[in-house]
Amino acid sequence: MSQIITVASGKGGTGKSHFCAGFARALSSLGKKVALIDGAMGLRTLDMILGVDDKVFYTYVDVINGDCTLEEASVECGGFTLFSPPQNTLCENELTDFSTNFSKDLQNLFDFIIIDSGSGISNEFIQAISPADKVILITEPTSESVRCVDRAAGVAEENGKKDLLLVINKVNPDYIKKGIQSQIITIIDMLGITTIGIVPDFNLKNKKHNPDIAFNNIARRFVGEKVPIMDL
Ligand SMILES: Nc1ncnc2c1ncn2[C@@H]1O[C@H](COP(=O)(O)OP(=O)(O)O)[C@@H](O)[C@H]1O
Ligand SMILES: [Mg+2]
Repeated sequence: MSQIITVASGKGGTGKSHFCAGFARALSSLGKKVALIDGAMGLRTLDMILGVDDKVFYTYVDVINGDCTLEEASVECGGFTLFSPPQNTLCENELTDFSTNFSKDLQNLFDFIIIDSGSGISNEFIQAISPADKVILITEPTSESVRCVDRAAGVAEENGKKDLLLVINKVNPDYIKKGIQSQIITIIDMLGITTIGIVPDFNLKNKKHNPDIAFNNIARRFVGEKVPIMDL
């Protein structure tokens, strides 16, 4: 039985898709079979982020329509599998149709199914969280981002999601010192959501701020290992 994890934030640009890529890679490096479903209908980016945009010949909407097999819509990304939506068509309920109609096949093939949700908290968001066993909320360390995640958490709870986890992304100790970013402890206190990890700003040069280590730590925590939160 696989576990479905939806990654969301409400606000765009918080780093959901980059987090999904790093988290999927990290879970697969632990020997887990991972599927990553891009839920950003008509605005897919994961294929580009993962450098496989020239390998997406079929989408999961083609699978639903019977135009290809699940395997033909699978794109191997060095250890895990990506399923993309169409780039040019706006769809209505296809994410739900795919996760519902193909849930048995997906459950048989994968340990973890990660859904990268698009931005916003309306229909697309509800579709992305509806099959989720766990919702990972991504916030930047800013008051605007925290407010949006708080709202997204509220909508998730209104839709029966109880297992919410928080990731604080783009953390930069210099910006915290200068007051440009909020203190981590303040964010955790404000949101009151179990924090599963922090991811440093990719632009930090210090080796101890390596984002891959952060993604690995989060994946290990996710599967139940005790790993201390990265000290920035
Ligand atoms: N940890 C990080 N540090 C610095 N920049 C980041 C980090 N995570 C994501 N970004 C940048 O933020 C932007 C938005 O990321 P993306 O993953 O597309 O966000 P979303 O999917 O939430 O819209 C991209 O330019 C990406 O490179
Ligand atoms: Mg995205």
